[in-house]
Amino acid sequence: RNPRIGIKACSSPSTAIAEPEGLKITSIPTTPVEGQKTGTSGLRKKVKVFREGNYLANWIQAVFNSLSPEDYKNGVLVLGGDGRYFNRGAAQIIIKIAAGNGVGKVLVGRDGIMSTPAVSAVIRKQKANGGFIMSASHNPGGPEYDWGIKFNYSSGQPAPESITDKIYGNTLSVSEIKLADIPDIDLACLGTAKFGSFTVDVIDPVSDYLELMENVFDFQLLKDLISRPDFRFIFDAMHAVTGAYAKPIFVDRLGASPDCISNGIPLEDFGHGHPDPNLTYAKDLVGKMYAENAPDFGAASDGDGDRNMILGRGFFITPSDSVAIIAANAQAAIPYFKNGPKGLARSMPTSGALDLVAAKLKLPFFEVPTGWKFFGNLMDAGKLSICGEESFGTGSDHVREKDGIWAVLAWLSILGYRNKDKKMGEQLISVEDIAMEHWATYGRNFFSRYDYEECESGAANQMVEHLRDLISKSKPDQKYGNYTLQFADDFSYTDPVDGSVASKQGLRFVFTDGSRIIFRLSGTGSAGATIRVYIEQFEPDVSKHKMDAQTALKPLIELALTISKLKEFTGREKPTVIT
Ligand code: G6P
Ligand code: ZN
Repeated sequence: RNPRIGIKACSSPSTAIAEPEGLKITSIPTTPVEGQKTGTSGLRKKVKVFREGNYLANWIQAVFNSLSPEDYKNGVLVLGGDGRYFNRGAAQIIIKIAAGNGVGKVLVGRDGIMSTPAVSAVIRKQKANGGFIMSASHNPGGPEYDWGIKFNYSSGQPAPESITDKIYGNTLSVSEIKLADIPDIDLACLGTAKFGSFTVDVIDPVSDYLELMENVFDFQLLKDLISRPDFRFIFDAMHAVTGAYAKPIFVDRLGASPDCISNGIPLEDFGHGHPDPNLTYAKDLVGKMYAENAPDFGAASDGDGDRNMILGRGFFITPSDSVAIIAANAQAAIPYFKNGPKGLARSMPTSGALDLVAAKLKLPFFEVPTGWKFFGNLMDAGKLSICGEESFGTGSDHVREKDGIWAVLAWLSILGYRNKDKKMGEQLISVEDIAMEHWATYGRNFFSRYDYEECESGAANQMVEHLRDLISKSKPDQKYGNYTLQFADDFSYTDPVDGSVASKQGLRFVFTDGSRIIFRLSGTGSAGATIRVYIEQFEPDVSKHKMDAQTALKPLIELALTISKLKEFTGREKPTVIT
């Protein structure tokens, strides 16, 4: 049995292999562990799995084995996380392995905390070589729940598949872990610790990020809106990482009252919550926003602060509409886009609302597979400014991750801009008004997603095979109920920047009226298979725009269930989540 790399393990006897500049490095023999392949967004497993043997240490070592030495030797790495259970212990392991592999400096957020977009911002601002993010995003946390880790490289973006494939390859051959013999770092105190040539800086997780937000947005405009007595704003941090950002940004800097923030303290188990800002899991916020006398604007963010949900009074903005509305208003309301966005992009299952904005503004437009990492190349190449996904991710090229607080500030900027000349006593333009106006201009793309979580993997795969078979036999103009097929395929994407190809990215049935039914297996679950069914229908007729999405989409949803035989394959009568 291999010696286990735990927080105190560095004192265990092993062979010393090098002592560069006052740092003792030990080589710990290890054997590969199966199944360390990263999904849509890093490696996610139950905490128990990560704590077994050298599971985490193997993966971290495999990352270093996958990089060229000049990418990290004497370089700077950023380390942050969403505050979930096991982060503190994991941070100590990661720091020791980083030092053991010759990294010069680690910048770690106080208490190991730093939101995903903030890690991206710090990597960029501090010109770091990359960073690790300890998070399983919106998955629940605690000893019985999930943990996760992701590697981002120097532009602040998640490692592309070429690197994650290499990491996976190295997890299958890793044989030694290089560990520096240094004590645990006191993560609670800001400051610098030096061990020979290696330095750890415990940094404030907010300041670099806040500075960036001040450069992107007009903070005076935001302050003017937030301080209006006739405008009420609430933010639910879901006991997750944005709790650390909400008070410094919304309260201390923008003047919101402290009681605008709920669940504002990051907790290791997110207060027993499921920190996913959607209509199912952000129940408290939804309740408040649909109550009588509800505030004007409500928002929430997820475990690691990259997702967002936007609500008006009694009104939900679907993420597909959110990115389209932000894009349509960005140039006017957000100084960062004063010259107009360079281009727009969405993930394939996200509704076509953004396409219509790109067409009207005559902007380059891209449709990429699910996964934020696919936007990065386009941003680095200067082709893309604003993008979003139906999965509650919205963001821009200010960082290389989606950004929950950014999305909230973007919406507040739009509201601030539209209402800046409104006198007290005048009716303010609401979130709902902005959405209705947008639909009147562009038409409405009704959209909904049905999730069937933790299905038996075999059954889910059989359903996918059944659909692939159906696609291979399908022909244009074929009738599906009242719908006529335009085409059906398995989405494949060729990156216009580096030519890399991502295939099998989702099964699409696209109909001649623009309606779409899409099936995918989630790449972010940690147990069984999650089937996602995405349904979209375009409606140009303004008189129908107020319709409830579930009502408008009912025939298409029924068609999706029929053609996929989802109930037959999985035994599921109902989805676990509807967004
Ligand atoms: C994460 C990723 C997103 C992705 C979402 C859903 O949040 O960062 O890019 O859209 O998960 O992915 P999934 O594979 O579970 O549908
Ligand atoms: Zn997240």
